[in-house]
Amino acid sequence: MVTMIRDLDVLVVGDLNPDLILRGDVVPRFGQSEQLLDSADLTVGGSGGIVAHGLARLGRRVALCAAIGTDPFAALMRERLAGAGVEVSTLVPVTDHPTGLTVVLNHEDTRTMLTLVGAIDALEPERIDDALLARARHVHATSFFLQPRLAGGLAELFARARAAGAGTSLDPNVDPAGRWDGLEKVLPLTDVLLPNRAEALALAARYGPSPAGPSAAGSPSSSPPRSSVPSPEDDLARAAHTLAGWGPLVVVKDGEDGALAADPDGRTTRRAGYPVTAIDTTGAGDSFDAAFLAARLAGRSAADCLDIACHAGALSTRGVGGVATQATAPDLAL
Ligand SMILES: Nc1ncnc2c1ncn2[C@@H]1O[C@H](COP(=O)(O)OP(=O)(O)OP(=O)(O)O)[C@@H](O)[C@H]1O
Ligand SMILES: [Mg+2]
Repeated sequence: MVTMIRDLDVLVVGDLNPDLILRGDVVPRFGQSEQLLDSADLTVGGSGGIVAHGLARLGRRVALCAAIGTDPFAALMRERLAGAGVEVSTLVPVTDHPTGLTVVLNHEDTRTMLTLVGAIDALEPERIDDALLARARHVHATSFFLQPRLAGGLAELFARARAAGAGTSLDPNVDPAGRWDGLEKVLPLTDVLLPNRAEALALAARYGPSPAGPSAAGSPSSSPPRSSVPSPEDDLARAAHTLAGWGPLVVVKDGEDGALAADPDGRTTRRAGYPVTAIDTTGAGDSFDAAFLAARLAGRSAADCLDIACHAGALSTRGVGGVATQATAPDLAL
């Protein structure tokens, strides 16, 4: 019998694509012949790609399982990730779809993303065998709603990961269709759920309290006393605790306002945003996820994990794209 060595801190399962980030005169004026750009950066994108890159930057042993095509964009992603220290032998090439692509139009302090899903939704979780799961201390899944095949098998994948002794986490990211379906079986098998503010509010409205009965959700012990006019923070804490009632520690990212964590025992932890001159917030949530997981695997407290992750998210906004200015372990005292 072969003894498996747990040689990976994190197996990331999810979306990978190049991001082409355009800045300058990017608001389309159809019918005009040509608009001029200030810059065009082609870089590692996809929530899974940016998380994996972030973990490698933090010195963690990480492999990425994501479906890509067999085209030059696939070769570019493989080269960039391997160069950063991510194990790429776990990537899944498919011949019948091109590698996914996101074109990011950055305009003033907002952005629009044009995404070709391509191979992204071809990832089948059954391809992740027990031998691979047994190598990982933790399995992190990304972009649930972009990948129907992965979504359909994620509960089973997380159950197998747990049986193999690994922790589980999920960054759902947005549902472009706005339905937010399919998480009922996944949430109870998720150790850490990492939505952003809009996603947390939408998911809490969609799922409501867990049918398994009230854990401590709804009675957050360290929440401030309720005032007569609920603040947006109260709404967010309430949504986070509703979701925590389904089982996971819920960590909600809130842009420049930082983040909060709601645990299944009803405790709330908050961290204000780190002041930073943000150049581009693409992938800040994914760099946050990477640091949160690295800190958690290092045995840090929930409050420390939140603080470290907020710091990492802020640092990642100093440059264009999701990976250019990701934090190193010394940056975060990790
Ligand atoms: N302008 C900012 N100033 C300081 N910190 C920021 C800023 N924007 C993001 N952050 C940090 O990064 C974290 C994640 O950001 P955000 O809330 O945008 O996540 P997200 O929407 O999941 O991002 P994405 O999905 O684009 O990666 C925040 O919790 C915060 O710590
Ligand atoms: Mg996100």
